[in-house]
Amino acid sequence: MFNKVCIDEVELKGKRVLIRVDFNVPVKEGQVADDTRIRESLPTIRYAREQRARMILCSHLGRPKGKPSPAFSLRPVAEHLSQLLEAPVRTAEDCIGEEVHAAVKTLQPGEVLLLENLRFHPEEEKNAEEFARALAGLCDVYVNDAFGAAHRAHASTAGITRFVSVAACGFLLRKEIEHLGKLLTAPEHPFVAIMGGAKVSDKIGVLKNLIGKVDTFLLGGGMAYTFLKAVGGSVGKSLVEEDKMELARETMKAARAAKVAFLPAADHVVAERIEPNAPTRVVDGPEIPEGWMALDIGPKTREAFAVIIRGARTILWNGPMGVFETPPFHEGTWAVAAAVAASGGTSIIGGGDTAAAVVQAGVSDKMSHISTGGGASLEFLEGKELPGIAALTDKQ
Ligand code: 3PG
Repeated sequence: MFNKVCIDEVELKGKRVLIRVDFNVPVKEGQVADDTRIRESLPTIRYAREQRARMILCSHLGRPKGKPSPAFSLRPVAEHLSQLLEAPVRTAEDCIGEEVHAAVKTLQPGEVLLLENLRFHPEEEKNAEEFARALAGLCDVYVNDAFGAAHRAHASTAGITRFVSVAACGFLLRKEIEHLGKLLTAPEHPFVAIMGGAKVSDKIGVLKNLIGKVDTFLLGGGMAYTFLKAVGGSVGKSLVEEDKMELARETMKAARAAKVAFLPAADHVVAERIEPNAPTRVVDGPEIPEGWMALDIGPKTREAFAVIIRGARTILWNGPMGVFETPPFHEGTWAVAAAVAASGGTSIIGGGDTAAAVVQAGVSDKMSHISTGGGASLEFLEGKELPGIAALTDKQ
């Protein structure tokens, strides 16, 4: 059970409320290119405004390596947020220091100030005590709504909680934990996990943790070829992590022992290079010719996966089925997206690429939950404790 104090259990009126959000969004030519994470934090921000809090928002953006850099400024995000809120959003030159204190002092109830990128200070990622204290000194109440950064033990996500009287979660963070947590504790069966993406190493922790919880694994994307090679398949020049083959064999053995069906792609769309509209062939079975690489699941696999997905009550999807950014290698991913959308089961989409894939496939509104966390959702599903969540105040 999620046992952390939430923003709606704390008195906010007139208080200085520091909300850690994850506004790490793509910015192109000074414009926010994908505002999903900003929109997802609106319920918390709107609620705090209605409660007449004096709101201070803080976030990281990108990886500026501890130095101020205009390319990583949160100013474009402030403008975008202001449009979404239909209210002014004030900005600051920094996230700590005298000017920031002065700006906070003049904040009126219901007003919003977005601080500059936390990662302009190396102390943020080092979780340095002085920096955490300085952030804590800006507020009466601290709220963490940055699920996407909850796997980082940084000053603004973990360290700060030692210096505030209450550290509450925001609505987004609570929603994420409720949806992802249910997968681990009380999923309805049949529970099907669709795993894909390029690398086995990114997903192996999740695969292992889900053995014994899921009924079926469906495997596509580049990672499937390490598994296929590990059982003696010929994979041509498909992506393979040679050093993960033993791990792949162990995982398959553990799945068999737990009576979990483990189904890698059975046919493959192959090409000689990753290039838009490159000539392709479909190969049935794990006999991909030399010089060719598998870049998508084939039509037989799409159909077989769709049948299993249709029968599921719970679906977790993490990782695309092919190089979906480059047509025609998007078709397998889109077919899976359509099957998940039509399934009628609870559908949970891991963040990052999979979230982008369901948006591109035009079915994002059919999903029960699309996580805003890439690394954070993976670590959560691996069964790890996330420092940004563990540090929040427990309910009495
Ligand atoms: C993310 O995009 O996954 C989060 O914002 C965390 O970013 P980071 O990987 O740079 O810590």
